[in-house]
Amino acid sequence: MKFHITTFGCQMNVHDSQWLARALTSRGWEEAGEDEAQVYILNTCSVRDKPEQKVYSELGRVAAHLKRDENVFAAVGGCVAQQIGRGFFERFPFVRLVFGSDGIAGAPNALERIAENLDDRVALLDFVTLYEEREPPSETVPVADETRQAFVNIMQGCDNFCAYCIVPYTRGRQKSRDPEAILAECRSLAEDGVREITLLGQNVNSFGLDKGGKGVSFAQLLHSVAAIPGLDRLRFTTSHPKDIAPEVIRAFGELPNLCPSLHLPMQAGSDRVLKAMRRKYDMARYLSIVDGLREARPDISLTTDLIVGFPGETEEDFLQTLEMVERVGFESSFSFKYSDRPGVAAVNMEPKVPAEEAAERLLRLQTLQNNITRKCLKNLVGARTDAFIEGLSRMQEDGAVSWKGRDPAGRIVNVVMEERTGLTGMMVPVKIVEAKKHSLVGERAGQPW
Ligand code: 5AD
Ligand code: SF4
Repeated sequence: MKFHITTFGCQMNVHDSQWLARALTSRGWEEAGEDEAQVYILNTCSVRDKPEQKVYSELGRVAAHLKRDENVFAAVGGCVAQQIGRGFFERFPFVRLVFGSDGIAGAPNALERIAENLDDRVALLDFVTLYEEREPPSETVPVADETRQAFVNIMQGCDNFCAYCIVPYTRGRQKSRDPEAILAECRSLAEDGVREITLLGQNVNSFGLDKGGKGVSFAQLLHSVAAIPGLDRLRFTTSHPKDIAPEVIRAFGELPNLCPSLHLPMQAGSDRVLKAMRRKYDMARYLSIVDGLREARPDISLTTDLIVGFPGETEEDFLQTLEMVERVGFESSFSFKYSDRPGVAAVNMEPKVPAEEAAERLLRLQTLQNNITRKCLKNLVGARTDAFIEGLSRMQEDGAVSWKGRDPAGRIVNVVMEERTGLTGMMVPVKIVEAKKHSLVGERAGQPW
């Protein structure tokens, strides 16, 4: 069978899709381009309104392939699948499988069954209470790709119920993965040549607080993973400020391969709005975490998520968000207009901020952020660092090639080099020579390693 996966949303979804592709390849299926697949898998996200609409239009595109081959079918996974469930079977008859993020472990078997019996409809929508281990790929399928970077799941779900967020409803309760299984996967990735691992979870700082973590804290887990030989870079995402432990903050100063960057969603800069959002921290606490992080690792690069126009947000509240963004000096941020999601607490909160006002706030916030980003990047000109090469970025007019890499903080660094092949997965020592709007330009300053 030939399959094609389209992924929306967060890194957890990207990772889930990678795992599914490997599991299907292990069963003899073949990943194919959009025009020749027989099975279309959409891994979906419903955290905000727009991504949900994208799924419907994507399914419209899949429907067009039925003219080429009437046996073409689709599977919908992830958060929209969890939310709409069997509703997809009625609206789009060629959808034969729906699976939530807790059901993904069973998706390869279900797809095999459906491929044999095209009348089958399967819904894997039950939530589980313990993290379910997923089968490793067969020995013929490489676990590492040429970028030598990998994601490793450490938990699933979220218990926080922030007032705007659909995640606890679509991904279920928090379930930490067995630390031994995490370490075994990280070790086997490193043995296969992986140099950078990103530990993934909705709220990694509360790893181990449920029974799945076997009493191992997130800080202990970080120390164990960082000690794996061959691991040059270690990252993790996403963090909730309320749960970040002093040991985790200190780890930034203690573990040389723990990358100097942290995505720490602030969401709003006003204590009143944070309270309404049920974030369970205030700005004093947030700022003290920032101070601690900078003390442990002065070059740490901080990024964040922000919501504007949360119900009840006044101009004054919003000005506090601007002030805090400036004060912390986030290197970049993802900012969104609040959107109502079905079933979340904020749906019933009033007054709603008019759409034009929210749009205007978003624009002001993004203008401020762009200025800060520009300053942060400019400050790096002249610095020396290593760019971990992810692949070719573009051909120059003079025939030289530009390679795209990342510095330890995760900033994009483009480097022009003579080589046309063989640099993906290598560290190239560079000197930063220019700052662009969202990236850096480096000059090679040593031998790739
Ligand atoms: N409206 C707008 N933004 C949201 N996010 C989550 N839920 C909503 C919502 N209902 C944002 C938060 C979160 C990021 C992944 O998406 O900022 O951190
Ligand atoms: Fe959603 Fe809050 Fe959980 Fe993040 S921590 S996934 S914003 S409920």
